[in-house]
This record gives sequence, C-alpha cells and structure tokens, in this order.
Amino acid sequence: MSKPWAVILAAGEGKRMKSKLPKVLHRLCGREMINHVLENVSPLTEKQIIVVGHGAHKVRETLGEDYLYAYQKEQLGTGHALLQALPLLPEEGSIFVLCGDTPLLATETLQDMWRSSQGMAATVLTAVVGEPSGYGRIIREGGLLRAIVEERDASAAQKEINEINAGAYIFKVKILKRYLAALSNDNAQGEYYLTDIISALVRDRYPVNAFKTPDSSDVLGINDRCQLAEVTKIMRERLNKRIMREGVTLIDPETTYIDVQARFKPDTLIYPQTVIEGECIIGEGCVIGPNCHLQKVKVGDYSTITESVIIESEVGCGATIGPFAYIRPQSIIGDRVKIGDFVEIKKSVIGEGTKIPHLSYVGDAEIKEGVNIGAGTITVNYDGKRKFRTTIEKNAFIGCNSNLVAPVKIGEGAYVGAGSTITEDVPADALAIARQRQVNKEGLAKKFRNKKEE
Ligand code: UD1
Ligand code: CA
Repeated sequence: MSKPWAVILAAGEGKRMKSKLPKVLHRLCGREMINHVLENVSPLTEKQIIVVGHGAHKVRETLGEDYLYAYQKEQLGTGHALLQALPLLPEEGSIFVLCGDTPLLATETLQDMWRSSQGMAATVLTAVVGEPSGYGRIIREGGLLRAIVEERDASAAQKEINEINAGAYIFKVKILKRYLAALSNDNAQGEYYLTDIISALVRDRYPVNAFKTPDSSDVLGINDRCQLAEVTKIMRERLNKRIMREGVTLIDPETTYIDVQARFKPDTLIYPQTVIEGECIIGEGCVIGPNCHLQKVKVGDYSTITESVIIESEVGCGATIGPFAYIRPQSIIGDRVKIGDFVEIKKSVIGEGTKIPHLSYVGDAEIKEGVNIGAGTITVNYDGKRKFRTTIEKNAFIGCNSNLVAPVKIGEGAYVGAGSTITEDVPADALAIARQRQVNKEGLAKKFRNKKEE
C-alpha cells in the first residue's frame, strides 16, 4: 500500500501569542514549531501539504519548496483550512491531518495511530489530560466515538470530560472530499469545524475510531507563550534524555539547554547552566561548562571550555578555553591551544599549541603554532574606518601589554619586549622593543614622599 500524504494546518494567526511572527514559526529547542511537526510526520508520509494564510510568505520562505502549499485567504476554521488543500490531494488513499501547533506529537505515536486506522473512514487521536480546558472534548457512547464538541459549544457536563481531541486525524480522501464540501459553520465561533466531520461520519455509519495515546504530553498544543514554555520544557527533557543515552553526562539536565541540531560524541561532560545552540558538533571526552554559551560551534575531542561564550567558530582537540573567554564568529582555534581568562578572539586563526592565557584582544589575526601572547596584548586592528590584519609567525613571543598596530607582521621566533607598541614588521628572530627607556632618579622618591606628608 502506498504511503499516506500529510496536511498541516498552519494558516491561523495565533492571536494569543501576541506576536508579529506567525505562531508556527516560534522556535522550540532551536527549531520552528511547524518544522518539528514536519520532522515527525515526514517519515510516515509521501508528501506534505501546508495550509498557510497568516504570514503565508514568511512561513513558506522559512520552510522552503520541498513541500506543497495551499493558501487559506480568510481563517474561517480548521474545516475550511483543510478544504483549501483538497485540490492538491490524490483521488485515492489516506491523509494525516495535523495542526502546526502540536510539535510534541512523536513519529511513534503517529505510527501507532496509522496502524489503528486500517479499515477506518476516519481516525482521531485523543488523550486523557488533567487540564482539558481549551480543547475539543471526545463524546463517546457505549465506549464508541460519537462526536467532538468544542469547548465553547460544550455543556457544563461535557466540559467535565477529560478525554480531548489532539487535533490529529487520518481520513480516507474519497470520503473526506464529500463531507468537507457539506460542512456548515453553525456554532459558537461561526467557524467551519473540521471536527464536525467526525460526527457526520458516525451518523452515516462509517467506521470511525478514536485512538487514545498513552503519552498525553504528546498532544499538547501551543496557543500562548505559557504553553510555548511548557512544551519547550517537555521537549528539552526528551532531548536531554536522548543525549544522555548517547553517552553524554549532563550534571543537571534541568539547566542544560541544547538545541535539536547539536551532535555529540560519547563521554563528554556538561556542567549546569550551559546553552548549546544551533548546529554544534562536540567531540569525545570534552568538558563544557558551567555557564557556557556555544552557538554553531565545532569542538574537537578532549577540549575543556569553562564559563565562556563561543559563536560560529571552531575549536580543535585538547584545547582549553576560559574561564571568561569570548570567541566571536569565524575564529579557528587549533589543537592544544590555551585561551585563558578575559580574552576576546575575533575572526582569527590560532595555531596549534599557542597560548593566549589572559586579558587580550585578538582580532583579524593569524597566529601560527607555538606562539606565546603575554597578558594585556592587543591587536590594534581598527583605525575608525577599516580593519587590518596582524600576522604572528611560529614560536614568536609577545611580551605583556603590547600593542600590535595592524597591518603588521611578527616574524618566526621573534621577541617583542613587554609594553611595546609595534607599528612596523618585526623580522624573524629579532627582538623588538618599542617603548621609552627607563630613567632612575636617585633619591627623588624621598623628596616626593616628604612633600606629601606636609
Ligand atoms: C483545535 C480543535 C480542537 C482540538 C485542538 C487541539 C477544531 C475546531 N478544534 O482547536 O478540537 O482539541 O485543535 O490542539 O478543529 N487553522 C487554520 N485555519 C483556520 C483555523 C485554524 O489553518 O481557519 C490552523 C491553526 O493555524 C492551527 C490549527 O489549525 O495550527 C488549529 O487551530 P486552533 O485555532 O489552534 O484550534 P484550537 O482552538 O486549538
Ligand atoms: Ca491549537
């Protein structure tokens, strides 16, 4: 049998989010809500159709052209939304219909639901929840699905029901087509409810079933930012568990924030209050945190990063970063490099084994292997208009508190005396001193001291 198609309803404004961004583009663990839904349903489906409306352009631009799109001009309800996708659907077969705002609905749950739907005209995913308000309630008769009643149309007794409609369905396309066309909007919200198709099918004695998922957290929908935080927390718990099972130690999963795009090799240890965002690739046996923020960073094996921020850069193997280092985009930190406290690196390449242990700014620089940069060294890379590059060759030694006024090159094995302001290239193996000579005036201190005491 051929795979079903999927239709994702995502045209609503998401008024309760109070946002300029379409609701389905809000992110959880680094990925847009609707992209989670697509990720979950894609393995089970042949093609995916997204019904867009509010912010259609933005949604389409974000998701790209791997999907089909239907446009719902006015948001007249979930039934009306699905109607817009009908012309794109095949004549035969089945479809999943999902909402763009239920990102926890796992592939496994959808798979179980699919199995239960064989021979059915329609299947509805339901769950028993502690707090059913806001959801459509499942009305059963003698255990069998009878209808779905929206919160706003429900009687007091129906509101007591805690089995809810998760907003995920499977339909036989042929039957669905007939019923969608006949839908009315005679209800409290004046909307075309997709859920009314279920009661119509039951009335006409079609086989319809409710598939009750055992994991009720799967069905949580996001309508406002409180629910966004709740659902994010559950997603993070699931993700952190997966990461731990893959061999990464999280000292405190509750305060470790890792995006879905991150990849780890085993035996890395992560201390609390660490944020790992975007496409990060972390090697084996690393120690990261506490208090680290990594964004799109690649880290080799056995590196240590403590209390530091690293953005869009690469760190090699066996490197030591921090505490309190700030590594900005387009930096490449080589193997066994040491970047110490209060060091900022920007758009620079740091060669193997080089040490920048404290209090330095290195920007637009190429520093080769085995260099030692003394505390307080600054690459003076900016004249107020343009940026210039600094090059430091192998095994050079830069004394403390030096200014390297770019463009400038320090030759291989050269020494720069502490406190120098270097404005010209230093040849290989030379000693450069660029500071005033010291003058000692014998006895003068005493005079100054006595003056003060007067
Ligand atoms: C819907 C269900 C409710 C279920 C809940 C599950 C209906 C009538 N109600 O309610 O039974 O418990 O989901 O989360 O179906 N949308 C459109 N066009 C529209 C209206 C909605 O595309 O005209 C999309 C929205 O973007 C959203 C989804 O459909 O992704 C659900 O819409 P929403 O307004 O959130 O429905 P609920 O009130 O949550
Ligand atoms: Ca909803």
